[in-house]
Amino acid sequence: MSLDRYAVFGHPVAHSLSPRIHSWFAEQTGERIDYRAFEAPLDDFAGTLRDFFASGGRGANVTVPFKGEASMLADERDARVERSGAANTLRRDADGRIRAFNTDGIGLLRDLVHNLGVDLAGRSVVLLGAGGAAAGVIEPLLEAGPACLIIGNRTPRRAQELARRFADLGPVAAEALADLPAADVIINATAASLDGGLPELAPGVVKSQTFAYDMVYAARPTPFLARCRELGAARTADGLGMLVEQAAEAFLIWRGVRPDTGGVLTRLRASVAEV
Ligand code: ATR
Repeated sequence: MSLDRYAVFGHPVAHSLSPRIHSWFAEQTGERIDYRAFEAPLDDFAGTLRDFFASGGRGANVTVPFKGEASMLADERDARVERSGAANTLRRDADGRIRAFNTDGIGLLRDLVHNLGVDLAGRSVVLLGAGGAAAGVIEPLLEAGPACLIIGNRTPRRAQELARRFADLGPVAAEALADLPAADVIINATAASLDGGLPELAPGVVKSQTFAYDMVYAARPTPFLARCRELGAARTADGLGMLVEQAAEAFLIWRGVRPDTGGVLTRLRASVAEV
């Protein structure tokens, strides 16, 4: 019997760890799936995705820069996708319809709260970035009950627009990068780390008890995490745990079983460090 087919689509996608993570999940749960990475052309993500599902594909993960398009192309969107405009998980159901989900936010929360023991309730949380990556995590962050969630972005207008879009869900506001308040938790959701860049950071934002998190992962501290350390942050973490947790949520959506993430994260961390 042929295996059910899943894939991650991105551009670039060659270095994606998702095929490895999902093959380990499949091994662990006994689910028989085939999961690959496909680089979609920047101007024809829609066609690539259509071909994949037309040829029997059951589900897809979607990464940079296609999360917005994935949301628009789906036949149905869950409430989080509807509001954020970004989807990272698609599922083709028996009725042939493509349904869109976003597991990034729940993945981030699982990593912060469950794996890293970071308490967000009553805390001052700063989110850097106002693109799809940031939009996808605002709702679950607000559900964790922070005292405030302040969005800072290089282009302030985008941060203001995002804050307005989520304002009915909790205490969220936008601030200019230079005016960000001191943060208990600061999260980098900009694309800056992807090309070795760094979002501008006013020194007062980071203090010794600040927990700094970069949604990007790397073998070495990202420039953002290195800068936060320089500014005195005692604790930092990259996004490898979020990657594994969002993948586990996608696996649950597709297969109805949530893999155990602890062992997979340890194994993945070791393999990333070897590169
Ligand atoms: P994504 O879906 O990954 O969030 P995006 O919608 O292109 O991608 O958004 C990228 C985010 O990273 C934006 O917040 C962008 O800031 P602007 O809105 O000002 O463009 C931010 N970003 C990218 N490179 C950056 C850099 N070198 N410094 C600071 N912010 C950067």
